[in-house]
Amino acid sequence: MQRNRIVIDCDPGIDDTFALILCIKKLDVAGIVAVGGNTGLQFTSRNARYVTELTGRTDIPVYAGYDQPMLGNAVRAEYVHGVGGLGDLDIPEPKKQLENEHGVDFLIRTFMNENDVSLVAIGPLTNVAQALLKEPELKKRIPEILIMGGAAFCGNQSPVAEFNIAADPEAAKIVMESGIPIRMFGLNATRQNWMGEEQVKELRAVGNKVADVCADLLSFAAKMYGHSELCDASTVSWLIDPAVVKKSLMVHIDVETKGEFTRGMTVCDWRKYMGEDPKEDLSHEKQVDADGKEPNVEMAMEFDKNRFWELLVEALKEYGK
Ligand code: BDR
Ligand code: CA
Repeated sequence: MQRNRIVIDCDPGIDDTFALILCIKKLDVAGIVAVGGNTGLQFTSRNARYVTELTGRTDIPVYAGYDQPMLGNAVRAEYVHGVGGLGDLDIPEPKKQLENEHGVDFLIRTFMNENDVSLVAIGPLTNVAQALLKEPELKKRIPEILIMGGAAFCGNQSPVAEFNIAADPEAAKIVMESGIPIRMFGLNATRQNWMGEEQVKELRAVGNKVADVCADLLSFAAKMYGHSELCDASTVSWLIDPAVVKKSLMVHIDVETKGEFTRGMTVCDWRKYMGEDPKEDLSHEKQVDADGKEPNVEMAMEFDKNRFWELLVEALKEYGK
């Protein structure tokens, strides 16, 4: 079932900002919870408030959750997103204040009292896991979680671990084992979305302040790395327009928390999908019988980047002149 009302847990972040801008225009955002991730909570919670001001939606409440992972030291991605999380953008201190309630308590209150709200998690899963620990009944109350995180094959934070999972593997493990229906948009899908200088020009052509900020952010990322996959925005587009994902597969995923080389890896059990021809791997629903646990994740496999781009540009145009 497609739900329109969402809560977003995020760590803005360049691509989180694109995701927020898309969701605010296209969905009913009940609240935004910030988590420490790409940069510290002081910045991610500021940036979330800034986006509500930029989009003229200061009615959307913003909450601060956890800054630090459940175990170990924080992992940051300031080399990707800039120290303040928004590239080299010099943003004003938002007038909008954070809500007094802790982000985890907001998650619990919302999902214990409302039906048919989807949870979108595009940062480390710390807040979500802490909420599940504090209120175990949430497992029955959250209808689905859409996660940007993990990977079918290789990682970015390490050869096998994707950043959001690597930043808090214990939290990811709790969420993955929760029994809540999970849709996962991992690096195998985001890498199909290469956005660079050509797209920066298209964003500039839209001609409003929201699109201008997007152009500045994408330009910063493109200058650093040649392109951006806009991972979080790609992910939320699946909720807005399900047809952007042309193929998804059900798979069992465990999160590695102990390995010397593999901590934070999403270990996908693809055994059933491996057939005789390596070129056909993963292209069929099921090829052979194999042992394994029941699938717990629907994983995006093929992404329509043109459809995504049309959706993004359309949303930006809707912000007006
Ligand atoms: C994820 O990590 C962060 O840097 C991005 O915001 C995205 O959520 C990609 O691995
Ligand atoms: Ca993110």
